[in-house]
Amino acid sequence: MPNRTLLIAGNWKMNNDVAEAVKLADELAQALPEVPAGVEVLVCPPTIDITTVHDRIQAAPIALGAQNVYWEAKGAFTGESSCDMLKSAGCTYCIIGHSERRDYFHETDEDQNKKAKALVAAGLVPVFCCGESLEVREAGTYVEHVVNQVKAGLAGLEITCPKQVVVAYEPIWAIGTGKTATAEDAQEVCGAIRETLKEMFGEELADGIRVLYGGSAKPGNIAELVAKPDVDGALVGGASLKAADFASMVVKAGE
Ligand code: PGA
Repeated sequence: MPNRTLLIAGNWKMNNDVAEAVKLADELAQALPEVPAGVEVLVCPPTIDITTVHDRIQAAPIALGAQNVYWEAKGAFTGESSCDMLKSAGCTYCIIGHSERRDYFHETDEDQNKKAKALVAAGLVPVFCCGESLEVREAGTYVEHVVNQVKAGLAGLEITCPKQVVVAYEPIWAIGTGKTATAEDAQEVCGAIRETLKEMFGEELADGIRVLYGGSAKPGNIAELVAKPDVDGALVGGASLKAADFASMVVKAGE
């Protein structure tokens, strides 16, 4: 098994105004003057806070990402941001396909595919989210459901290096509910995602692609999650809003 750098990624969602973002970013920079070997740290603030957070974390070993992007380069797309805009603001990553965007904003697999391609073409790394609802989990078809999302969302993506894309498995029933999937649940689906990535991109690339788990990941469960062979870190919502919790997850992942 290749030695993949773990990724601990914070998804702030729609939390923190500019002053609050400054406070959290400063606390994070202070709590993480360095990160353990083999771990990479990423924060994804709301678009309005990106420039500010970039200024505050510049000297810290923390990468910056957005939570959304539009695939067109520029023009009359009110409310949207392009890949180049995110890049010029200091982003290197962008979350796409989060279940909240799929559910509340009716984004489709085709939308994710356009976003993924535009990001990779611009030199940004998509953090492609996938995951099943409780209904699909209970019907027992969750692996197939997630595999299909990956196939559709990342179809035709042109990558030459495994670091050009990240996949995050986030079972919807575990997001913000306090109900974490067990490490075994996470491994089952993350392993199936890796097999799918092998079919799509070949064994060598797929072996190096980070597959994260997300859904009530916290300091108390991060170690057992990343101990699984196909879980290469976490996409963290709630626990990323407290600097001490998030920093502790980074440290525990590295132990
Ligand atoms: P949570 O959110 O950690 O609050 O469950 C994870 C996510 O939705 O990315």
